[in-house]
Amino acid sequence: MSALLLINIGQLLTLRSAADGPRRGASLSELGIIQDAAVLCMGGKIVSVGTTKDALRDPWLKKNRKTVIEIDCGGRVVLPGFVDSHTHPAFTHPRLVDFERRISGASYEEIAAAGGGIRSSIDGVRKASKTALTQKVSAVLADMARHGTTTVEAKSGYGLNLESELKSLEAIRAAAREWPGSVVPTFLGAHVVPPEYRGCSGEYVDLVCNVMMPAVARRKLAQFVDVFCDRGAFSADETAQIFAAAEERGLGVRAHLGQLSETRLGPLLQCRPASLDHMDHVNNEDLPALAQSDTVATLVPGANYFLGLSKYPNARRFIESGAAVALATDYNPGSSPTLSMPMAMSLACTHMKVSPAEAIAAATINGAWALRLADRKGSVEAGKDADLAVFDGSDYREIPYWFGANRCALTIMNGVPNGQLSAGEKT
Ligand code: NIG
Ligand code: FE
Repeated sequence: MSALLLINIGQLLTLRSAADGPRRGASLSELGIIQDAAVLCMGGKIVSVGTTKDALRDPWLKKNRKTVIEIDCGGRVVLPGFVDSHTHPAFTHPRLVDFERRISGASYEEIAAAGGGIRSSIDGVRKASKTALTQKVSAVLADMARHGTTTVEAKSGYGLNLESELKSLEAIRAAAREWPGSVVPTFLGAHVVPPEYRGCSGEYVDLVCNVMMPAVARRKLAQFVDVFCDRGAFSADETAQIFAAAEERGLGVRAHLGQLSETRLGPLLQCRPASLDHMDHVNNEDLPALAQSDTVATLVPGANYFLGLSKYPNARRFIESGAAVALATDYNPGSSPTLSMPMAMSLACTHMKVSPAEAIAAATINGAWALRLADRKGSVEAGKDADLAVFDGSDYREIPYWFGANRCALTIMNGVPNGQLSAGEKT
């Protein structure tokens, strides 16, 4: 793989840090900006980071410049590619009827109780061929890259039987193999109780733990196990049971928590989940324990926006308590059909009073911590994977500012450029 040199970067947000661990409190605003910067990548890794002037004086570069692919960033902003640490891409159809029902006044929970919601996505996935599902996931990954995302956590969770959960994870794997970015697969068999187990959630949890999870682990189809722990889905005890089974199989755990109702964090934190996501309803008394843990609170404001909620998770309370906060899209057909990390960041700024700098750290380095990938992803530092996003504009605050339009000009995933910069289009 040839070397790649990005020069004339107006603002390079390195997100470098001397400290080990996710960003918390004031450190969430430290972007490690270098003006007039350059980044040299080789073999899919970042090898040096500094100013354009210093890069062009480098003896190795002077000698080898002809063999290096050079990208003139024309004063644009460059940052680590986004790490979208919570997505559900393995589905077939948008849920347009649910969308209209909500507009006419029904809530997400009312729609689910009437047979809509997550259960209405099951049929499409069960009937889809693996090839068709792979094509859907591939199209989503390609679109994510166009919006600046280079690492994606991808959940199953719309098959909800052995065959279709395996098919979903196999589709994610097949799509990931064709994509230059990085994909972290998650088994979400415990998304909701499927209709054939209605009224017997215990039996379904046993199936998830004793049949589905062993098959997933044997085929190495997932790195994490997720549970939707909430009213109308799975209880805290069922979640703990699923987490224990995951630990036995050597799989990491994470949960959807506090989206619709409050669950106390204490017992679940003992299972050391990599992240707890949504977190709209969290008891204040649980914050010190969360702050002392390595568990990342992943906030997904796209879901609040799309469900038409006036309330958003209290991001300031999390940040000020010292909890590690990440942002993700929660891309899915029911509550958050957006794959744009800049959109999630914009919502965090306008509705959760997160600053643009905090939003960027939450969407990059803390997303990497949420996936336990911070040794490779989430910052622009020598030795890390060459995952970069180039944005039109000359100031990083423009990324969440220009909402609703894609301003990502180029992504580089594991050293592979995706797209081409046109000259003189920096603003
Ligand atoms: O994160 N809350 C559970 N899961 C998704 C919704 C999935 C769906 O509605 O299809 C979420 O919001
Ligand atoms: Fe989700």
